[in-house]
Amino acid sequence: MDQNLQNKLKKEAGIKAAQLVKDGMVAGLGTGTTVRYLVDELGRRVKEEGLTFTGVTTSRRTAKQAEGYGIKIVDIDDVDHIDLTIDGADQVDKNFNGIKGGGAALLWEKIVAINSRHYVWIVDQSKLADTIGSFPLPVEVIPFGAGHVISRFKAKGYNPVLRLGEDGKPIRTDENDYIVDLHLNRIDHPKELGADLINTVGVVEHGLFLNMVDEVIVGNEGAPKILKNPYKGGAIRE
Ligand code: A5P
Repeated sequence: MDQNLQNKLKKEAGIKAAQLVKDGMVAGLGTGTTVRYLVDELGRRVKEEGLTFTGVTTSRRTAKQAEGYGIKIVDIDDVDHIDLTIDGADQVDKNFNGIKGGGAALLWEKIVAINSRHYVWIVDQSKLADTIGSFPLPVEVIPFGAGHVISRFKAKGYNPVLRLGEDGKPIRTDENDYIVDLHLNRIDHPKELGADLINTVGVVEHGLFLNMVDEVIVGNEGAPKILKNPYKGGAIRE
């Protein structure tokens, strides 16, 4: 998809989702380029409409942007609940399973998500797929012994690549961990894969977000489309 069109669709999804934030809410704010548009719109609403809410963010980057707009950001442990979290995603399948972590924030994103009463993704239409996996699956790994974790992944045929920054050094997450991207092409059994990854010593968390999201706002040519998750059993959140 053309980059300008993709940005336009991301922006439209972000603006649409900003309407979900109401006065007095505790709102979880995700990370990524789509969420940047969401936060811009929330900043506008704070300034022009007098919207007041408290934010919990999934990265220091988002906290910095939101605070720049005068949005009150608190630590996740300073709130007893999160009403609503809005985040981006890298790929979403028909069963509302997704891959996240392209922006290296998957660990905080998952923690904020499972503590949210309502969980929404904002994506452009190019992120929808029949089967996830063509987007490399990010896995957060503790630096100590990471080489051995990568060797184990290689032996399993997971095609791991340690994510490097522009300086050629491994990028660090907000928890100072590494990200290893698994080039799997397609993931036919996400639940089994997720269980295998989380049971690997040294892995902190993986970017499979399976049946966690309540609704997905898709930036589409035309108006954004809202997809509600019919499978959401509410097992993770109240
Ligand atoms: C951050 O780690 C990710 O999970 C993002 O939410 C995801 O990569 C979507 O990013 P964009 O909105 O930049 O495409």
